[in-house]
Amino acid sequence: AIESGVARKVITDWDAYNEELMSRLGSNNKLLRDMTNQAKQDPKRIVFAEADNYKILRAAQIVKEDKIATPILLGNEARIREIMRETEIDLGDVEIIDTKKETPRSEEYTQFLFKKRQRRGMTMFEAKKMITDRNYYGACMVEFGEADALISGLTKNYASTVKPALQIIGIEEGISRVAGMYLMITQKGPFFFGDTTVNINPTAQELVDITVLIEKSVAQLNIQPRVAILSYSNFGSNDGELPEKTREAVKILHEKYPDMIVDGEMQANFALNPALLADNFPFSTLNGKPANTLIFPTLESGNIAYKLMQEIGGAEAVGPILLGLKKPVHVLQLGSSVREIVNMVTIAVIDAQIKCAAKEASQAK
Ligand code: ACO
Repeated sequence: AIESGVARKVITDWDAYNEELMSRLGSNNKLLRDMTNQAKQDPKRIVFAEADNYKILRAAQIVKEDKIATPILLGNEARIREIMRETEIDLGDVEIIDTKKETPRSEEYTQFLFKKRQRRGMTMFEAKKMITDRNYYGACMVEFGEADALISGLTKNYASTVKPALQIIGIEEGISRVAGMYLMITQKGPFFFGDTTVNINPTAQELVDITVLIEKSVAQLNIQPRVAILSYSNFGSNDGELPEKTREAVKILHEKYPDMIVDGEMQANFALNPALLADNFPFSTLNGKPANTLIFPTLESGNIAYKLMQEIGGAEAVGPILLGLKKPVHVLQLGSSVREIVNMVTIAVIDAQIKCAAKEASQAK
């Protein structure tokens, strides 16, 4: 579990929970501070794929100085050093790797990539070329244990960053999909949104898999997940492909995961307003307290919702937290701020700590 001090006990009483959250979050954002303290307890090596960028270098300096992580930089060394000189960023004896040049690891990484993808249409020539791409090289560093996590995506679209991770690192055992989650820090406390970044139009079964993945991750934060599967329809009030898909997902979840607090399909206001839900749908298993984990029917709806919350709702969006990969790779939003990059590194370090502890526990068995 993420023992970040975020909440050391599972909180079940909603009022007490909200009160505690507000005191935790306040104006100084204690939740994030607790996560930072957790990261500092066991700093990890973070490889930055886009180190020829001022914001990345500034974030690298902050996480190094705050002892959250040891940065490793990928990119053209002369260019990186020039930016650091111009912006007075000092990263001491930081390791810089230019993946466009032959490195001591290029050959082994190329062979590895070719072996993985040779029956998926990749030629040796292509593998050689791809390994010079910083996302492929960085994913290999994580796969081979030469870095603990990869951070990328500031300047590229999401898909081109997540694909190398899927191809090289792959998904955790027992998991069928990776998915993206946002922690939305709002005036009403934290909410978890998913899938906001990966699965474009998941099937009912894929929605089930995404829900299980996200629900587990929320529970790892020692917060009792209360999950609403969202749609534009309430419990069968509308027909149509999307409501039917979400209805089917809820049916499977109720059958297969009877202990999970989950209901739907429902509109977002019913999920978040217990009085409204109780008045209209007293049978709902979500009754009594609002949902804190919102599952969206498509990537489009999830992605739009969190960005609206960010821009109009004044929420701080922490993420996207990429869930389900075997090893930590985290993909920034295009154009993230330095603060968002630092938050993402913090998450990546905690993710690496958790995965490392899980590996040690399974090896000890
Ligand atoms: N979970 C697990 N495995 C997956 C997933 C998934 N969600 N998607 C693809 N894979 C697997 C594939 O099956 C494939 O397996 P293989 O090794 O058997 O070939 C492997 O990963 C590699 O897949 P590719 O074929 O290279 O990639 P694919 O074409 O399936 O694309 C991708 C995957 C890039 C994630 C695609 O689904 C996509 O573009 N999603 C949308 C991403 C996006 O644009 N997000 C926008 C928001 S970003 C933001 O706002 C921060």
